[in-house]
Amino acid sequence: MKDILEELEARRGAARSGGGERRGEAQHSKGKLTARERIELLLDEGSFEEFDMFVAHRCTDFGMEKDRPAGDGVVTGWGTVNGRMVYVFSQDFTVFGGSLSETHAQKICKIMDMALQNGAPVIGINDSGGARIQEGVASLAGYAEVFQRNIMASGVVPQISLIMGPCAGGAVYSPAMTDFIFMVKDTSYMFVTGPDVVKTVTNEQVTAEELGGASTHTRKSSVADGAYENDVEALAETRRLIDFLPKSNREKAPVRPFFDAPDRLEPSLDTLIPDNPNQPYDMKELIQKIGDEGDFFEIQRDFAGNIITGFIRIEGQSVGVVANQPMVLAGCLDIDASRKAARFVRFCDAFEIPILTFVDVPGFLPGTSQEYGGVIKHGAKLLFAYGEATVPKVTVITRKAYGGAYDVMASKHLRGDFNYAWPTAEIAVMGAKGAVEILYRSELADRDRIAGRVKDYEDRFANPFVAAEKGFIDEVIMPHSTRRRVARAFAALRGKKLSNPWKKHDNIPL
Ligand code: HXC
Repeated sequence: MKDILEELEARRGAARSGGGERRGEAQHSKGKLTARERIELLLDEGSFEEFDMFVAHRCTDFGMEKDRPAGDGVVTGWGTVNGRMVYVFSQDFTVFGGSLSETHAQKICKIMDMALQNGAPVIGINDSGGARIQEGVASLAGYAEVFQRNIMASGVVPQISLIMGPCAGGAVYSPAMTDFIFMVKDTSYMFVTGPDVVKTVTNEQVTAEELGGASTHTRKSSVADGAYENDVEALAETRRLIDFLPKSNREKAPVRPFFDAPDRLEPSLDTLIPDNPNQPYDMKELIQKIGDEGDFFEIQRDFAGNIITGFIRIEGQSVGVVANQPMVLAGCLDIDASRKAARFVRFCDAFEIPILTFVDVPGFLPGTSQEYGGVIKHGAKLLFAYGEATVPKVTVITRKAYGGAYDVMASKHLRGDFNYAWPTAEIAVMGAKGAVEILYRSELADRDRIAGRVKDYEDRFANPFVAAEKGFIDEVIMPHSTRRRVARAFAALRGKKLSNPWKKHDNIPL
């Protein structure tokens, strides 16, 4: 009996050593943690339960039958994050470069199937040379099996991808179908074709970092949602994000203890809006002052800064925030902002996370680059996302809400539940100057007269009361009482039930 136990321990030891000490050290020398170290940091201490530790590949080509390491380059299993269950896979770069074989894929698929059945998030830690070259099409089939499960799990359980090494070729499409992608600066990259192929085909010379590093994907392409300094920070932030999310679409997000009075007044908000309507202010200040303890988990901070997306809590409950940012492009909606916010709104709706929208938007950004780029279709994504969302929706217009952008930003007409405005709100088809220039074109030469017309227009429309008279704004509220009003609104909406007509699925303008 003792021998058998010892043999098990020896086998476990061999599996845990992955590709051996030398390759483990090479991993550390690049500033990367090993697959198992990452799992240890991600999960609560001692909570990891491993599956398939002894699975080995079945390849017999290229002499592979002589090298069959236990685990086959991926560590899989489940554990907890602050006591809540998650499934995890972590690719082990020290074993065949973390490359994906048929059996490696089967291990990932097994935990994805279990996550779906048991209703728990999937966190994938990617560090891989891609398809196991020795296995050919068997590896490609394995990828497609994972892709299919990503699709089935979408909207059912949260899926988070951490990119902590190479991720190239078709392999990028699994993370791309998950809800959030976090990268590590300088040690991770994602691309469909690498720098060598790019050079051959387009004659462009570009480094892996420039082509698909964390900066590229968080600032230019928006493929990734966050970039972190190192593995430790990325894993800690993933734990933080998990705390905001429900385990599946069958459950509500967790309610965390809070120490911040829901009726806290915030007098500083009464002076947040500058006297000059063209002067910007920082919308993040408002978000932080509204949320419990100022805690805000921002999504896509470095992309489309004219719109802010992320999670706060109010009375301990998770709330998704979407807010125009007057400090960037005056808060205009454009292609990037619309895509960014639409995806976020759809995530919140899929997982029953209520949405709080702060509006200060002068309209859609004009210009040929926007029109040629399809701002009509991209803007429609956000409109569509808000309109189809059935979660509680609370909207606060702080200043401008002009034109189509007023409609888009969770207006009453798109089934906004509580639509508030600050007294500084201006709800109109456009700004006073633009309106007067169209309405009184023949008087443009007469400056005094035009100034009078602008003043008239402002007096009439640059306020929230016209909309409030029509019931499009439920109440004009004091800025300092915003947290209290918003908290009461969400509390009143906890029993909200709303569903859309039956359909196979919608046809959102992709
Ligand atoms: C098998 C692989 C491998 C792979 C790396 N290794 N990639 N083994 N299949 N795809 C092995 C190496 O042989 C090496 O083994 C070890 O992993 C570490 O690799 P190195 O090259 O020494 O590491 P590094 O210098 O850090 O370079 C990492 C790398 C490079 C950039 C990822 O290994 C590389 O370019 N690999 C090939 C990438 C690729 O072309 N993959 C296929 C993409 S197409 P030893 O024994 O020496 O430690 C694809 C299609 C997916 O993925 C389609 C899905 C639909």
